[in-house]
Amino acid sequence: MKPPKPHVPTDINRRRLLRQGAALGIGILAAPAILSAGRSNWHGRDPFTLGVAAGAPAPDGFTLWTRLAPDPLSADPHTPGGMSGGNTGLRYEIAADPQLRRIVRRGDCLSESQFSHSVHLDVRGLAPGRSYWYRFISAGSASRIGRAMTLPAPGQTPQRLRLGFVSCANYEQGYFSAYRHLADEDPDLVIFLGDYLYEYIDRKSATVRRHSDGVEADSLPTYRNRYAQYRMDADLQRLHAEVPALMTWDDHEVENDYADKWSPRFIDPRQFLRRRAAAYQAYYEHMPVRALSRPRGASMRLYDEFRFGDLAQILLLDGRQYRSKPACYAPPNRGGAHAQTNVECPERLDPSRSLLGARQEQWVFERLQRSSSGWNVLAQDVMMAQWQRVLADGERAYWSDDWNGYPANRERLLRFIQAQRVANPVVIGGDIHSYWCNDLKADFNDPSSATVATEFVGTSVSAHPPPRETFARHLAENPHVRYFESQMRGYATLEMDAGNLHARFRAVSDAKDPLASVSTLKSFVVENGRAGAVET
Ligand SMILES: [Fe+2]
Repeated sequence: MKPPKPHVPTDINRRRLLRQGAALGIGILAAPAILSAGRSNWHGRDPFTLGVAAGAPAPDGFTLWTRLAPDPLSADPHTPGGMSGGNTGLRYEIAADPQLRRIVRRGDCLSESQFSHSVHLDVRGLAPGRSYWYRFISAGSASRIGRAMTLPAPGQTPQRLRLGFVSCANYEQGYFSAYRHLADEDPDLVIFLGDYLYEYIDRKSATVRRHSDGVEADSLPTYRNRYAQYRMDADLQRLHAEVPALMTWDDHEVENDYADKWSPRFIDPRQFLRRRAAAYQAYYEHMPVRALSRPRGASMRLYDEFRFGDLAQILLLDGRQYRSKPACYAPPNRGGAHAQTNVECPERLDPSRSLLGARQEQWVFERLQRSSSGWNVLAQDVMMAQWQRVLADGERAYWSDDWNGYPANRERLLRFIQAQRVANPVVIGGDIHSYWCNDLKADFNDPSSATVATEFVGTSVSAHPPPRETFARHLAENPHVRYFESQMRGYATLEMDAGNLHARFRAVSDAKDPLASVSTLKSFVVENGRAGAVET
């Protein structure tokens, strides 16, 4: 790592002090100038029922999101969110303070009717390395106030960076207390690593609340209503308003265990791609992602890079859209994830197979090669470390849906990191509904081989865990796993400075309790220059 540059002060303490005041900005406005901003077709109802969000930070701006939805769960597919008609104008305000006293930018923007009246406002021309606050105004109504952030300018290095990361929020299986407690921590950024929602209906296990439409989401109207219902959750809405977000997805935003155009259940990929197009569009309509991510049919570019001067770089990856066909794929019975041995399925080892896809893989290599950052974070959906189960006959079985289904891609990436001496690589992931801290090895089958990167996997926000024993009894067969726990729901945080990265696994007391408390389950430190975490 390079020596730290002059410190850019963080505004985090000021943010904490002023946050309470920002919350007071919610409500209906009466000022004449504001009343003239747009014509209402929601007849006195609040159009900002789904809140606001900021994301995609750049050194001079960010993307601001909202969606006009006076009737957010409208059952009529022709009036999504209760909105009819064409694009609707609204106004926005961006300020240097949480009470919006020092407005630095105001203007007009459009909600796009083709994207269910969502707004994706790419703002540019602002100062680097700081927070801004914003709101939207339309026809007499004002949204709640949200916080956005700009990245440091190139050459400017913040003293520290504080992140939260979350995954696997099942609305039916638990409350989102993890989101509330993460918002309380006021991190600089939150990274959503996928399974932001669940497309299916849980008919088998204990649930605390129901998806209101009672059907599996499989079409544009049903995906839209699923997102709308999640966004009406007060804890999730608050987290988005108070903390800017980086967004990537896993499988449940579309369908369980899909890989590119291969679905566990659809035998005809063209049929599945129609469903994927609907799911991707609904995702775009609800996320603070930049114009680059505007979907084209069943394609949507999500992977992206975010640099924090010489302190850190975050590569946000897409682990689903570009995958090679699952090894030994045979829908409908062997379409989804399953355990595979090398005898049953030698195809798993085929060096041409990739989880990231050739183009994204190349993009990652280029970004890692030219990185001057002290910490290089790869943020993606699924666990990267090898996980093997030794069977009674001595064969080893591997799960096909995470990086274990694509070992050649994992080896290429880790060997590249080792050969290029990428500074402090840290992989974060989710999907598996349990906490993991892993050494990522140059050769997983040789425990004495070098640890080339550190991995932290966060547990689910609320989705049910796998039985603990499923994994616990095989830990000895995977000596690179430093920590595993599946009993608790929650989130994880990372705090980086020039010398160390501190990771904390935060656990809520009970995801079935809407007022759950939070505590630290485990914490780890990674020292600059030494891959592999140490428990603290
Ligand atoms: Fe999940």
